[in-house]
Amino acid sequence: MAVIFSGIQPSGELTLGNYLGALRNFVNLQDHNEAYYCIVNQHAITVPQDPKELFQRTRSLAALYLAAGLDPEKSILFVQSEVPEHVKLGWVMTTISYVGELERMTQYKDKSQKRGDSIPAGLLTYPPLMAADILLYGTELVPVGEDQRQHMELTRDLAQRFNRIYGETFVIPSIQLVEGGARVMSLQEPTKKMSKSDDNQNATIRLLDAPDVILKKLKRAQTDSDNRVYYDKDNKPGISNLMGIYRAITNDSYEHIEALYEGKGYGDFKKDVAELVISALEPIQQRYYELIEDRDQLDAILDEGAEKAHKKASAMYRKVEQAMGLCRN
Ligand code: AQP
Repeated sequence: MAVIFSGIQPSGELTLGNYLGALRNFVNLQDHNEAYYCIVNQHAITVPQDPKELFQRTRSLAALYLAAGLDPEKSILFVQSEVPEHVKLGWVMTTISYVGELERMTQYKDKSQKRGDSIPAGLLTYPPLMAADILLYGTELVPVGEDQRQHMELTRDLAQRFNRIYGETFVIPSIQLVEGGARVMSLQEPTKKMSKSDDNQNATIRLLDAPDVILKKLKRAQTDSDNRVYYDKDNKPGISNLMGIYRAITNDSYEHIEALYEGKGYGDFKKDVAELVISALEPIQQRYYELIEDRDQLDAILDEGAEKAHKKASAMYRKVEQAMGLCRN
């Protein structure tokens, strides 16, 4: 039994990448572990958000977590802003972070590039807040996608640095990557990861996309003119990405997929990938539409989650304050 923590930002409609790279794995881990799953809305506001949309997406994300199979009897599901210790410890972790190491984060470089001269400082201090999220719960394992590896390494560094300066306080967490390394790439620019905040609608498959939309997007997915299905990430990133999706859903090896599609073209393959995605998402979509209608039930689950999370987080934060000389008793 391990303590698990992970979060997803309500920064857009969830994509197939979020599902195959993170959410699906959360569900597998909730048995036999103490699992905390968070809707990290304070991370989402590191870039501008429309308040009404953010509020709705937070509810929608909660319903999606549940629709994908999270069981509130087994997992603690809560919203980050409802547990104030996240920002409190986030500030503490910011004070022990170095500007140079934060500026080296790839996500910061990518996201700040798009902001011209007005780079929100929160983009830079995102990783210390993420470290706080994780360290508050005595987390041992963090299931995230490969794209979060650098932030996880920084989290471990910050925890070790704090322990060195103020005495043994935090557990040093480990990253748990999804088996099969499901990193889903953009359908339009397959060298870039599929991101929920991508403005190009054709680049992402959303978990709530209707079957005909999924089929259309996959048919339009960027490939090459070779028309032979085989895996070559560097030279055939588009078709390799679709093979990655196929493999993540079926567990088939690339060799097996190549053998299945020998002599067939991209058209057949894309249609089959679409069918697989549609059948994987159909039960989630069905449950989602039931859950999102039941406002009271959703609120009750999130209230209970916040209460349980707060209990654990406040005990840890008190230890931090004591270690740092921030409280009088
Ligand atoms: N394309 C992806 N393939 C595999 N895993 C992915 N994840 C995200 N995109 C992919 C995993 O989803 C989890 C939640 O991510 P997040 O919401 O905290 O932020 P993110 O990684 O920045 O995800 P997005 O979709 O790209 O959001 P935006 O566009 O707002 O930045 C993480 O475990 C991540 O690894």
